[in-house]
Amino acid sequence: MLLSTQQSITQEVHIPELMDRNIRLLVKRDDLIHNEVSGNKWRKLKYNLEQCVSLRKEGVLTFGGAFSNHLLATASACKLAGLKSIGIVRGEELNVNSNDTLSRCAELGMQLLFVTRDEYLLKEEKQYLEELQLKFPGFYLVPEGGSNYLGMIGCQEILSEIEVSPDIIVVAAGTSTTAAGICLSLDEMQRLWVVPVLKSYSATDNIRALLSRTAFESDMIEDYLERVTSLEEYHFGGYAKYDNTLLDLIEESYFKYELPLDPIYTGKAFYGLLNEVKKQDVKNTIILFIHTGGLQGAKEIFQKEKRAIY
Ligand SMILES: Cc1ncc(COP(=O)(O)O)c(C=O)c1O
Repeated sequence: MLLSTQQSITQEVHIPELMDRNIRLLVKRDDLIHNEVSGNKWRKLKYNLEQCVSLRKEGVLTFGGAFSNHLLATASACKLAGLKSIGIVRGEELNVNSNDTLSRCAELGMQLLFVTRDEYLLKEEKQYLEELQLKFPGFYLVPEGGSNYLGMIGCQEILSEIEVSPDIIVVAAGTSTTAAGICLSLDEMQRLWVVPVLKSYSATDNIRALLSRTAFESDMIEDYLERVTSLEEYHFGGYAKYDNTLLDLIEESYFKYELPLDPIYTGKAFYGLLNEVKKQDVKNTIILFIHTGGLQGAKEIFQKEKRAIY
């Protein structure tokens, strides 16, 4: 095993307004797994890297935007595994010096190929992927965000590391791969609250699409989906959008509760958790918040906003 998940502790967070409701809040700190292959990134890459090795490929080819946590995690994990990596990056105007994420990917040995936005849109098209595979036969292709079957199966392992059984699990969603994996490990009584960070995005629909790639019958998939609620009011205007309310909550959570969050993913999910508890008048329960990482991005945002945190 390349990385251990032992560092991913379960942190108990004492928030008075939750304690008043007799709610125990636990946080699964997957952000602590590794500083670059952090959070759900390792979960989603783990079996993909194993597959790459068992197929005797020389490296991984994957896709990402200019600030992609997934590209950086892939570059770093491949370096650790002694594999090569290629990143197809959205934006032909970019180069390896455009930002810290891209420079670090290059430093880790990732070959970066900058493509137009139109070409990037083809990243899931069968023909485009076949052409890429012909061009790079020694590389194992992983979709953007590690969003494939093996990525989902890696995320299925998260709950097995928790000693108590939570009633509600809360997680942020981009592609919903993490949520789909967690969904597969829920027992009948557990509920999964998924907070999409994109506008007009149904986590339920996306989880359904991911689960339909498994061997499960559609009735079984619908059974799983009954345990899922997609909380779609906490995107703060859309992907990578945020406001001072969100930044204030992140500051409070860091300074008061020693819980570092980011404004793109985990901050929104945490905000959603606190708000839904009030809205649904939740009491006497154990909530598990999944910390999916993303803190490298947070540093840049807080510096830009001139807030002294991280
Ligand atoms: C920090 C962080 N949290 C959550 C997510 C969302 O995960 P998923 O795409 O599996 O829904 C991402 C994106 O991969 C992420 O970078």
